[in-house]
Amino acid sequence: MKKTLLSLITLAAAGFASADVNVYSYRQEFLVKPIFAKFTQETGIKVNTIYLKKGLAERVKREGEQSPADVIMTVDISRLQQLVDMDIVQNITSPMIEKNIPAKFRGDKWLALTTRARAVYSSKDRVGKLPEDFDYLDLAKPEWKGKICTRSGKHPYNLSLIASIIAHHGNEKAKMWLQGVKDNLARKPQGNDRQQVKAIKEGICDVSLGNSYYFGKMLTNEKHPEQKDWAASVYINFPDQNTTGTHMNISGAALAKYSPNKAEAIQLIDFLTGDEAQAMYAEVNFEYPVKAGVKPSELVASWGTFKQDSLSILDVAKHYAEARAGIIFYANKITVFIYTGLVLRAIFIRAYRCIDI
Ligand SMILES: [Fe+2]
Repeated sequence: MKKTLLSLITLAAAGFASADVNVYSYRQEFLVKPIFAKFTQETGIKVNTIYLKKGLAERVKREGEQSPADVIMTVDISRLQQLVDMDIVQNITSPMIEKNIPAKFRGDKWLALTTRARAVYSSKDRVGKLPEDFDYLDLAKPEWKGKICTRSGKHPYNLSLIASIIAHHGNEKAKMWLQGVKDNLARKPQGNDRQQVKAIKEGICDVSLGNSYYFGKMLTNEKHPEQKDWAASVYINFPDQNTTGTHMNISGAALAKYSPNKAEAIQLIDFLTGDEAQAMYAEVNFEYPVKAGVKPSELVASWGTFKQDSLSILDVAKHYAEARAGIIFYANKITVFIYTGLVLRAIFIRAYRCIDI
């Protein structure tokens, strides 16, 4: 009784009615809102959404059994795995999920809704299209010294790539690769994936790592048309075509552990795996649908087909701890370097003062 009353208070506080389905989403409103509107139109079930930029998993954990969350939507296998590790999601399956989502794109407690490639962008003027046999490992070669831009290695997009390299090549080779890439950086890792393409346009670097859908988002950006120019200055390349295939990551969904509207939640997730929703993801955000037979957008299709890494995304997730350890190792080296620099500067200032006196 006490629990029911508390649940009602929580739901009322969150502005949710119990017959609706409640979504906590890291995915942005422009993308999911039209899809949810279609779902409501077809089923009569209202979708209440809380859009978050950070702290989603922590919030659900904190709310515990009283959480109104039914469905959690996020990007990257690392974040989906975090939901599982924090024990805030439950097993989910349905005939529709099994039919629509290939086995390699689902775990017991999560499923992928779209995929995206971790591409390499190259300057049209200074590099051209990268050769067919270009691999991620090539980024560590001396010929790229001072020419690579990337966002932080600690970001899930890069951690997943590093984890996939560990899965394919082992820890030692991956560490050497990380050191090589770090040595080749044109500047300290910063900004997001689009910012690296901007840096290529500005001549700061020649190649960058970035997710594939950003190419579409930049090329069609009416709100920030300067991004069209950034994108027009690069080619998109899909590495590892003669080896293991390009690293793919996912966006996905999970069913909250204490979902108060489980039946409606599964109905919504089923809908997200269907033709209509999959096509909307492809058109609105330039992602690759996971359901077989649903085509990518015309623009995405124009980038060509390519070999995708066949490694299960779960096998990638197993290597997160090592990937993080590798990044922290190099981050610490940078810290030591900065610290050494500060000490030297302090000594110099002291020496200078001495001279001055
Ligand atoms: Fe993204």
